[in-house]
Amino acid sequence: MTISISIRKMTDGDLQEADRIMRLAFGTFLGLPDPMAFMGDADYIQTRYHFDPSGALVAEADGRIAGSCILMNWGSVGILGPLTVRPDLWDRGVARHLLEASMSIFERWQVKHAGLFTFSQSARHIYLYQKFGFWPGFLTAIMSKPVTGTIKQREHDESKTNQDSLSWSTCSKLSSSEKTSLLSRCAELTNDIYPGLNLQKEIESVENQHLGDTVLLQNGGGELAGIAICHCGPRTEAGSGNCYVKFGAAKFGQRSFEYFGCLLDACESFARSKGLSNLIAGVNTGRRSAYRMLLEKRFHTQIQGVAMHRPDEQGYDTPDKYVLDDWR
Ligand SMILES: CC(C)(COP(=O)(O)OP(=O)(O)OC[C@H]1O[C@@H](n2cnc3c(N)ncnc32)[C@H](O)[C@@H]1OP(=O)(O)O)[C@@H](O)C(=O)NCCC(=O)NCCS
Repeated sequence: MTISISIRKMTDGDLQEADRIMRLAFGTFLGLPDPMAFMGDADYIQTRYHFDPSGALVAEADGRIAGSCILMNWGSVGILGPLTVRPDLWDRGVARHLLEASMSIFERWQVKHAGLFTFSQSARHIYLYQKFGFWPGFLTAIMSKPVTGTIKQREHDESKTNQDSLSWSTCSKLSSSEKTSLLSRCAELTNDIYPGLNLQKEIESVENQHLGDTVLLQNGGGELAGIAICHCGPRTEAGSGNCYVKFGAAKFGQRSFEYFGCLLDACESFARSKGLSNLIAGVNTGRRSAYRMLLEKRFHTQIQGVAMHRPDEQGYDTPDKYVLDDWR
């Protein structure tokens, strides 16, 4: 039986039902005994809708919400997800309609590289996204480690020049004028990783929605050496007890390796300062050196999936890029 599907922008009034469908769809696909238990008290729909409502779509069939899709604007990079459809309507073309409308939004945003995370074992998922020009790349590992009791903040080493000492602080400690300058310094840092990559909206969203904080790593010369946008606890993308690095990056260049290690330690210290017991970070395995560093620091993979790219290029999933994100 054919159904009539229409696509429109998500509104505040859709949030509860979109969230219910998101949990039910993933929980059903994963075969959870209680599908609605998917993600516990973590949240994707509200936080991403409020990140930018212009990137949130719902599908309607017969006057009821049939599914939703949310897009995130990271400058020249666009991230797609979550895309979910009510299980009683699977294989009726709802996702196809949502994806068609999503591609128009990416065009309007002039996204150069779009990406998503999906189930690598699912031929159905890969097929669906390939129809829209996304091609599978490397696996992405979503990793975690318990937050330990020892202080990991890099201690000042007197044998090094002032230029070499690294310290960290957080965005919430800055004055409003310092924040404005920080956003442009962050944009420079990410632009060196991938032209036009800009996380300004994520940083602002974390602050405006009180989701966590942004960890800032600085070298002795006052340069920004790394950033990590962190969600903390329930009703964020982290969930109770967790600090989740939504996006993190070390400054690209000769000292990336060192900066990245310090950034990971700073995130752990930050998590501990917030009373959180678990640090979660995703890394694409094509960013080989970054992935290796997480393994060395005793992160363990909890979930793995595949990154899909549109167009069929690596973007910043290359061995020399020290970036944390998972595109879920
Ligand atoms: C994945 C999901 C969004 C798809 O939604 P949907 O509305 O059922 O998708 P559509 O009907 O638009 O498209 C499904 C396509 O897969 C095809 N398909 C189904 N089974 C397949 C298989 N085993 N192998 C290849 N293709 C398959 C269908 O034929 C259809 O393609 P067609 O339109 O060319 O015929 C939905 O199943 C869902 O919500 N799953 C749980 C959450 C999830 O996994 N979200 C995506 C996370 S990345």
